[in-house]
Amino acid sequence: MCGIVAYVGEKNPLPIVLDGLQRLEYRGYDSAGVFISNRNEKQTTKVVGKVAALRKALSQKVVINATMGMGHTRWATHGEPAYQNAHPHVSNSGNLVLIHNGIIENYAILKKELILRGYTFESETDSEVLVNWIEEIQKTEKLSLAKATQVALNQVIGAFGIVLYDIKNPDKLIVARLGSPIAIGLDKDGYFVGSDATPFLEHTREVVYLEDNEMAILQPSSPLEVLHIQNGKKLDPEIQQLKWNLENIQKDGFEHFMLKEIHEQPAAIRDTLRGRLLNEEGKIQISSFNEHQQKFLNAGRIIIVACGTSWHAGLVGEYLIESFARIPVEVEYASEFRYREPILYSDDIVIPISQSGETADTLAAIKLAKQAGAFIYGVCNVVGSSISRETNSGMYTHAGPEIGVASTKAFTTQIAVLSLIALKLAEIKETLPQHVLRNYLNELDNIPEQLEQLIAQKKIVGKIAQQIYQSTNCLYLGRGYNFPVALEGALKLKEISYIHAEGYPAAEMKHGPIALIDEDMPVIVIATRKGHYEKIVSNVQEIKSRKGIIIAIVTQGDVSVKEMADYCIEIPESSACFTPFFATLPLQFLSYYIAVLRGCNVDQPRNLAKSVTVE
Ligand code: M6R
Repeated sequence: MCGIVAYVGEKNPLPIVLDGLQRLEYRGYDSAGVFISNRNEKQTTKVVGKVAALRKALSQKVVINATMGMGHTRWATHGEPAYQNAHPHVSNSGNLVLIHNGIIENYAILKKELILRGYTFESETDSEVLVNWIEEIQKTEKLSLAKATQVALNQVIGAFGIVLYDIKNPDKLIVARLGSPIAIGLDKDGYFVGSDATPFLEHTREVVYLEDNEMAILQPSSPLEVLHIQNGKKLDPEIQQLKWNLENIQKDGFEHFMLKEIHEQPAAIRDTLRGRLLNEEGKIQISSFNEHQQKFLNAGRIIIVACGTSWHAGLVGEYLIESFARIPVEVEYASEFRYREPILYSDDIVIPISQSGETADTLAAIKLAKQAGAFIYGVCNVVGSSISRETNSGMYTHAGPEIGVASTKAFTTQIAVLSLIALKLAEIKETLPQHVLRNYLNELDNIPEQLEQLIAQKKIVGKIAQQIYQSTNCLYLGRGYNFPVALEGALKLKEISYIHAEGYPAAEMKHGPIALIDEDMPVIVIATRKGHYEKIVSNVQEIKSRKGIIIAIVTQGDVSVKEMADYCIEIPESSACFTPFFATLPLQFLSYYIAVLRGCNVDQPRNLAKSVTVE
């Protein structure tokens, strides 16, 4: 799981590659490297660490006037984060240069074979094996580089997104994908390549997303040539128009992307609802539903598959859909689902949820469900991503780019989409009385504005963070719709502050976790008025009697919980089904402030990457 970027053409490639890498750091950041070349010279620079360290290393170097550049930011799979394992990798002859995202599963067999044929290796990576395997085929079978690459890629098992360069043929790049994304930007002067389109947003609006098993030959003087890797057939690339712009991926004066993205939630949810929630007309309009309405009406079951935060959103979706539309829903970790031989029926609807659209386990779960004949309706943020293209139909969340590794606006926009789906299903199945449906539409419509007001209370959360940031453990409790919120709050804290945290259904506390509670244990309880209030009041009492530090998220005007809690955060009154929007926001702020107080790297927490494209 790495970020790759390249440019060939009239522009200076180095700034394009370096700025592009910076934007792709969400994909990994344990080492980075660039290779630049003109017709006579070439230069490679690699560092262990982030793109900032790479820039520094380059500033101490004489940099050539290049016409082609490629860069890589790595998240280690084969071989530890080390200089020799950083990309680009060069073939034994010194002619071929490769950057690679993905895993070559049969690399050990290929490596053994290459060693027998006299090849030597500097790194422990599967990528260095791949570039030499291509070279060996080119040499022994006397093929053009494109043909040799095609042959080699048919022999490797695994996943790849690659950019390949031949120093003897300096105006050309070869790119290919199987399982790891490749976006190609086109303009009159040249070609851009990225793991997504963010590296070239300011340069062009035209993009081609390669499909699995496609490769492309990029020569500035020629039209884009796309081929099928398996049969070599020429394909007609579909040129799409980019909608995101540069402002979307900058920090806009916020200290961290995560903080910016927390603040963006009201606007992001507005974008999610726009044109879909027609409040004045009292209906939901989902264009992709019209075509498939019958499928939803006939659905025996809905299975939601996802990972991490998206899985938590899926749990909220389960509660919403079962309650509003009375269709049974199962929520599965994609990584479990894909390997546990699940029973699937042709009237099942599978809803994969993913921000990035590149999560390997979710993608594999989709493929499995598709083979079993299920209808796949995706919920995804990144337009043109692998998951969005693998599904039969679906909805984009329209959250805009999410750069911080910790998902924030992705989660709330996912639950906005799931609310729309649940309400639309209720509308077509007539499972909710008309006035109830209208009230829900009205409430949903008001959520962005209410969230704006809630954001204004962030200082209170900052003060609470100061009281608990040195804790080593935290417990998060919630019931009903707020149980997934408790899980999400705990995940946020773990991933960016490295404090151990557990989310639990509040009533489960007495079946074990209560043993952990003492005067050093902060317990964050979501105790909103609608949704099992009396029950959760008893849970709060149980914590109080064990001297736990109670941080309660309560409905404005609450009295009972406030009397017992050490700290309170008030959120607006809402129907129980919509409390996740409001209860999540302070928990995101809480983890953010705690991480900052602990001096953690908020946007790029250790060991994590934004999209997990390996299993
Ligand atoms: O891109 P996806 O939504 O498929 O990603 C799934 C998880 O990897 C992701 O939600 C992860 O758990 C986040 N870092 C959580 O903040």
